[in-house]
Amino acid sequence: MEDMVKLLCLFMCTTLFFTTKDAHKLKEKYFGLVDDLEKSKNVSWPDLIHCFLEKKINQNYNTPEDITGCVVYLLLLYAGHTHLVKPLTLPDDRYLPRAARWNIKEISVEFLKDMETSQYTVSPQEKQYILL
Ligand SMILES: *[C@@H]1O[C@H](CO)[C@@H](O)[C@H](O)[C@H]1NC(C)=O
Repeated sequence: MEDMVKLLCLFMCTTLFFTTKDAHKLKEKYFGLVDDLEKSKNVSWPDLIHCFLEKKINQNYNTPEDITGCVVYLLLLYAGHTHLVKPLTLPDDRYLPRAARWNIKEISVEFLKDMETSQYTVSPQEKQYILL
């Protein structure tokens, strides 16, 4: 069971938290983060995810299509800062990540409305990425 949890964590590192263009391979560099599950509870995952994404944004500022990392996190940040989407109230009796408060589809719709209001032109290709 523990190996399954480690594998799932590794999968999430590769496909969600620290994505790259070659996200089809598990990366050895993340083994250390999940190898000892007790230690991994002490890892500040939000900080790591944020730092990775921030680094990728800075590295690819002029080529946004090359930005990798947990880009869906940007929608959550947007929702948290704009208050355009009401977060769900999570049950107190179960542990759920804060991200579970948000409906990504609702955020995407509000984001596009906001972009229309701002007169920013969203290309059909960008729209396709926003409406996941
Ligand atoms: C996790 O952090 C706590 C508090 O700092 C510490 O007491 C504990 O030893 C750490 N656990 C591991 C496995 O490193």
